[in-house]
Amino acid sequence: MKLVFATNNPHKLSELKTMLPKEIELLSLSDINCHEELPETQNTLEGNAMQKASFVYQNYGYNCFADDTGLEIEALNNQPGVYSARYAGLHCSADDNIKKVLQQLHAENNRFANFKTIIALIIDGQENYFEGVCSGKITLAKNGKQGFGYDPVFKPDGFEKTFAEMSKKEKGAISHRGKATKKLVQYLKIISCQKLF
Ligand code: IMP
Repeated sequence: MKLVFATNNPHKLSELKTMLPKEIELLSLSDINCHEELPETQNTLEGNAMQKASFVYQNYGYNCFADDTGLEIEALNNQPGVYSARYAGLHCSADDNIKKVLQQLHAENNRFANFKTIIALIIDGQENYFEGVCSGKITLAKNGKQGFGYDPVFKPDGFEKTFAEMSKKEKGAISHRGKATKKLVQYLKIISCQKLF
């Protein structure tokens, strides 16, 4: 089964490649000659994920999925949430975002946070959503060099290291995106069986 992952984030693409079974041929946007910026103007994770998937489905005609992820920090009333990418400003870097989070949490004891991913899938016009949540804590400083985004300051529950100190496989087994992807794969297995009978 061919499926496009509608993302311009190479880190997400390579994470997904380690998670999907080989029966699913994962295509990138460049594989389908899509070199456009994907629209992402909604104010919910669901809205943004479906907006990106719909853009590719409608303009390029491929079955596809897209994800949108937010970091919800308890002490900040679940901010930055859907605005995680632009937390420190419109064209800010991951480092700027991390600096702002650490600054906001300065002298704050409650470090609880969740990463939440929503995957939106469109197959033959049928739309579905899959959610994955990973709970953890925001560290006092950056640790680790792997991964991307907020990974260096997010320590998942049950681990003594941040996502940025884990391999892709280790992170994928417990992460928000990993959990949402497992649900996506289960669903794809069910519909491919239905198509055989
Ligand atoms: P988006 O899903 O690409 O819109 O991501 C929103 C923000 O969350 C961006 O700043 C990403 O870098 C960050 N982000 C998304 N997924 C992850 C992750 O798995 N780890 C750390 N940061 C992430």
